Amino acid sequence: MDWGMKNRMAKLIKPETGRAVWLAMDHGYFLGPVKRLEKPGETVKPLLPYADAIMLTRGILRNCIDANTSVPVILRVSGGNSIVGEDLSKETITTSMEEAVRLNVAACALSIYVGAKYEHQTLSGLANLVNEAQRYGMPVLAVTAVGRELGKRDARYLSLACRIAAELGAQLIKTYYCDDFERVVEYSPVPLVIAGGPKLKTEQDALQLAYDALERGAIGVDMGRNIWQSNNSVAMIQAIRHIVHENASVEEARKLFESLTK
Ligand code: 5RP
Repeated sequence: MDWGMKNRMAKLIKPETGRAVWLAMDHGYFLGPVKRLEKPGETVKPLLPYADAIMLTRGILRNCIDANTSVPVILRVSGGNSIVGEDLSKETITTSMEEAVRLNVAACALSIYVGAKYEHQTLSGLANLVNEAQRYGMPVLAVTAVGRELGKRDARYLSLACRIAAELGAQLIKTYYCDDFERVVEYSPVPLVIAGGPKLKTEQDALQLAYDALERGAIGVDMGRNIWQSNNSVAMIQAIRHIVHENASVEEARKLFESLTK
């Protein structure tokens, strides 16, 4: 691996623990003003000190994030779809590598939709992005998106999607946690992080999700709604960090969460 790629990867995955807590806030690229992310800059400001990286689009980065920040950026470079459009899988590359370099980001991210109508378009998009990103030492994070079909999130489907992402050259993969998640990890030669998915009933449920994923081989989380839709988001991200970077149990993380919310 070249120095630039290695250095960017070290910004994203803490060398001390080999793990990562990324804060996903790119939801607006197809969902518009999601609850609690109506003003992304305000929502995310108190969370930044606890995030190893933030994942977002160039528009939100330029308009809502202070350029003096030292938090690494994972730039979403795919889109062109919307929740009310023809088909969520109809995504394309929206942001050039030149922009990514200009914005000094640590990685580029795009979604792939395996098995969907526009599967080929998103997979060839990944392959082309990797081809270009390699020239700049830029890691690529592939997101195994399922669109509205949340039921697709099982080990058979996610192993297939993650393996294809790795085969096409992604250095990092973001996927969902599922039963038999260790199988998904086992068949992927590159590190996996998990998304949180829609807000779970309680914070403890989200802590359990993070814990289970780490136990079964994920190297971290790229979590959004289960952090910033919590009424105690700053406590929540610290509790997640406790699990990811300090090997805390769910009970220890819950206790930390509660002590921070008093
Ligand atoms: C959408 C994404 C989101 O960033 C992702 O779903 C993570 O956020 P959450 O934890 O809210 O699910 O990549 O495709």
